[in-house]
Amino acid sequence: MKAVIPAAGMATRLLPATKSQPKEMLPIVDKPAIQYVVEEAVAAGIRDILVITGRGKRAIEDHFDRAFELEEMLRAKGQEDMLREVRRIAELADMHYIRQREPLGLGHAILQARTHVGDAPFAVLLGDDVVFSDEPCIRQLTRVFQQQGASVIAVEPIPPARSVLYGVPALGKRVSPGLWEITDVVEKPKPRDAPSKLGILGRYVFMPALFGAIERTKPGKSGEYQLADALRVLLEEEKVYALATKGRRYDLGDRTEWLKTNIEVGLMRPDTRKALLPFVRAMARKPPRPLR
Ligand code: G1P
Repeated sequence: MKAVIPAAGMATRLLPATKSQPKEMLPIVDKPAIQYVVEEAVAAGIRDILVITGRGKRAIEDHFDRAFELEEMLRAKGQEDMLREVRRIAELADMHYIRQREPLGLGHAILQARTHVGDAPFAVLLGDDVVFSDEPCIRQLTRVFQQQGASVIAVEPIPPARSVLYGVPALGKRVSPGLWEITDVVEKPKPRDAPSKLGILGRYVFMPALFGAIERTKPGKSGEYQLADALRVLLEEEKVYALATKGRRYDLGDRTEWLKTNIEVGLMRPDTRKALLPFVRAMARKPPRPLR
């Protein structure tokens, strides 16, 4: 199966950090967010990855490419471990790129993958959602996809107030614990309009019929082609399932979440944990004075 990573969106909520840098390249500890996403796909056995980029996203291509001068310098300095790591990144997967020429929404971004993907099911991983789980989140979806033979989207319970940030599915028949047929999707509803207590994570496995559904979708708010609207069109023709996936999701569209992710991953990593833990404890006991 091929994977598509839409990474063309602007990140106004993380300005000014993202003024001249893609949000997908913001580091979590010392690795850009999108590298975690690519590594998740690779851990699930996916080798062919298409990134949908746009203006100002060239740094993503450079990151997954060879860097000869850097490699030379690391070799000359005898930094063999870092040299291996830098080369490993360039060999992770077969990376492909295509640009979304106009910012016409997530549905439109995914449609750019049609020629590359062809008439086959495909995985979609949003470049600004990082998920940590024992079994890669996208593999949890591909397993269910193989059983059901229909599109599957990842969902997780969300606090009501966060419904305004996510797509929210309306649930139909429960197939097994944590797996439902869905009957509708509402994009970013107000809490009182949310059809369930679940929010969509940026992980999906789609039947190729999604492409036709996107084409038949009318532009929604602000002239954008929403993925949620395309899912509604798809639902008129075939079943779509929602799977409550296991794992911890970080939505990097938000500066507090980005900070929390860094602290949590820093505390999980053996090389940073020892120094960070006493620091975080001390900060929590006696928080620094707010900056003026
Ligand atoms: C997109 C989707 C939304 C989904 C979310 C997951 O929104 O439109 O349905 O719940 O990703 O992160 P965005 O985060 O691009 O605003």
